Amino acid sequence: TRHLLGIKDLTEDDIQLIFETAGNFKDVLNRPIKKVPSLRDITIANVFFENSTRTRLSFELAEKRLSADVVNFAASSSSVSKGETLIDTVNNILAMKVDMIVMRHPYPGAGVFLSRHVDAQLVNAGDGAHEHPTQALLDAFSIRERYGDVAGRKIAIIGDILHSRVALSNILCLRKLGAEVMVCGPTTLIPKYISSLGVKVTYNLLEALQWCDVANMLRIQLERQDIAYFPSLREYSMLYGLNKQLLDSLDKEITIMHPGPINRGVEITTDVADSHHSIILDQVENGVAIRMAVLYLLAGKRG
Ligand code: CP
Repeated sequence: TRHLLGIKDLTEDDIQLIFETAGNFKDVLNRPIKKVPSLRDITIANVFFENSTRTRLSFELAEKRLSADVVNFAASSSSVSKGETLIDTVNNILAMKVDMIVMRHPYPGAGVFLSRHVDAQLVNAGDGAHEHPTQALLDAFSIRERYGDVAGRKIAIIGDILHSRVALSNILCLRKLGAEVMVCGPTTLIPKYISSLGVKVTYNLLEALQWCDVANMLRIQLERQDIAYFPSLREYSMLYGLNKQLLDSLDKEITIMHPGPINRGVEITTDVADSHHSIILDQVENGVAIRMAVLYLLAGKRG
């Protein structure tokens, strides 16, 4: 495929090639001159229908490090507010000779829908509660960097699994790479189908922590919940919040991840988020190299 719409479309070999390419770009990013000319004939539009800090900025940085021309579109300050449709919006951007669209959208499947109606290469930067492929790639790359390999590692994904595109893309990516995955959270936030993806399920945080090498702590996605949240944030934090006391009770060291943005004091306390166990800012750093790799490899598939 000439798009990156989800991890579901990638093979293990595709993912390993992205990692090798990202590793080379990470070396470039550590040099005094961080820029390469690879995409200097390409124009990319970052089209964001939903708020973002990490994904939007790291795509833009990745594009600039690759010497692409970049334009940014935020739906909230655009003619979408006058009723312009998604297809019209993107076709108008493409008419200005844009080659690639990086899109974040609140609706699951928005990228797949668009791929059927416009003639451009698309990268999914998060579509509702569906997929967030570059997040899963940077997460798995960060685990590989920490442990040398992802295969055989035990990863617990803890929190709001039901509303999380990060959870689904991570599960698909980690399973393709041969990791063991356990999801943990309240019964109300773990969908019934999840075990069909080859993951273990627990509703007990301590059990997940005792089992895993890596705990990926997810945020409660209040913006995607259409009913009053159950359990309450206070109950959630008491039952599923990661704190230093819990970490210290384990007979081993585990690695702590979080895709951001963090709700400090809800799913994770500040002392844990900022401790030496945490690779949260390494994940963010790796996001630029992973997005450079994805854009570079997709540019090589231009029709
Ligand atoms: N992890 C992540 O997608 O963060 P943003 O929503 O800030 O891009």
